[in-house]
Amino acid sequence: MININTKIKLNNDVKIPIIGLGTYQIKNGKECEDAVIWALENGYKHIDTATIYGNESSIGNAIKKSRVQRDEIFITTKLWNSDHNDPQRALDKSLKNLRSSYIDLYLIHWPVEKVRNETWKILGKLMKEGKCKAIGVSNFTIKHLNEILKSTNVVPVINQVEFSPYLYQKDLLEFCNSRNIYLEAYSPLTKGRKLVDKKLVEIARNYRKTPAQVLIRWCLQHNVIVIPKSSKKDRIKENINVFDFNISKEHMELLDNLNEDYRTSWDPTDIV
Ligand SMILES: NC(=O)c1ccc[n+]([C@@H]2O[C@H](COP(=O)([O-])OP(=O)(O)OC[C@H]3O[C@@H](n4cnc5c(N)ncnc54)[C@H](OP(=O)(O)O)[C@@H]3O)[C@@H](O)[C@H]2O)c1
Repeated sequence: MININTKIKLNNDVKIPIIGLGTYQIKNGKECEDAVIWALENGYKHIDTATIYGNESSIGNAIKKSRVQRDEIFITTKLWNSDHNDPQRALDKSLKNLRSSYIDLYLIHWPVEKVRNETWKILGKLMKEGKCKAIGVSNFTIKHLNEILKSTNVVPVINQVEFSPYLYQKDLLEFCNSRNIYLEAYSPLTKGRKLVDKKLVEIARNYRKTPAQVLIRWCLQHNVIVIPKSSKKDRIKENINVFDFNISKEHMELLDNLNEDYRTSWDPTDIV
C-alpha cells in the first residue's frame, strides 16, 4: 500500500518520493515561492524544476523559508539543450539558484543529437563529485535508451516522459521496467485539457474523486512516479490527496484504453 510518504528506491539506492510538484510555467517570484510553500505544507517532499523554467531561485528561496529541512526534500532539475557544451557550469548555476550544495536528481532534458552520450559521461563525473545524487534522462525513446545503455555502465535512474491514459506509453514503460529505469510521468493531467472527458469524469464519480486525482492515481498504480503541476493552493492540496482510494482493475483497464497517443508537449520520436 502506498501513502503520501512512500519513496521508491532507484537503481543506485537513492530514494525518491512517488509524487512531486511540477513547476513548469510557474512564474519565478511570489507565484513560485507560494506554490512550493503550499506544497511543502501539504506533504509534498519532491519538487520538479528545470533550468529552462527560470524558477530555480524561487524554489531555493521557498525551501529556505519553509520549516522543512533540505535533506527531507527531493529536488530534480534538468540540463537545458544549449548547455551540453558545459554541463558542469550549468549544474553549478542551478546549485547557486537553488541555494543548495547538491541536486537530488539531474536529468538530461532532451535527447539532443550527437552530444547526449558524451554529456551523459560528464554527468556521471559530476555525480561522483557529489554535486548530484542521481542522474537520469527525459524524453528518451527506447532507441535513445538502448544507445545510452550501450555507451556506458551508468544506467539512468529515471526517464521522465509525458505519460497519461491518453498517452499510455506501454512499450516504453515495459522497456524501462525491464532495465531498472523508473518512468516518471510529466503532464499527467494533460495540462488540464482532458479533465472534462466524459469517460474520465464518469470513473472519477465512482470514487468521489476529481478527474485530476484519478489521472494521478492511475500513474501511481502503474508504478510510475508522478509530478502534477499547479500554482493554486486548493489544487496543490487536491493533487496529493490520492492515497485514500484504489482504482479497480476494471477501471484501470478502461483508463488504459483511453490511449490515443495524445501529446501536449514535444515529441522525441524522430530525434535521431
Ligand atoms: N521533462 C519535460 O520535458 C517536461 C515537459 C513538460 C512538463 N514537465 C514537468 O512535469 C510537470 C507537470 O506537467 P505540466 O505542467 O505540463 O502539466 P500537468 O501537470 O499535466 O497540468 C498542469 C495544468 O493543469 C492544471 N491543474 C492542475 N491541477 C488541477 C486540478 N486539480 N484540477 C484542474 N486543473 C488542474 C494547472 O493549472 P493551475 O496551475 O492553474 O492549477 C495547469 O494548467 C511540469 O510542471 C514539469 O515540472 C517536464
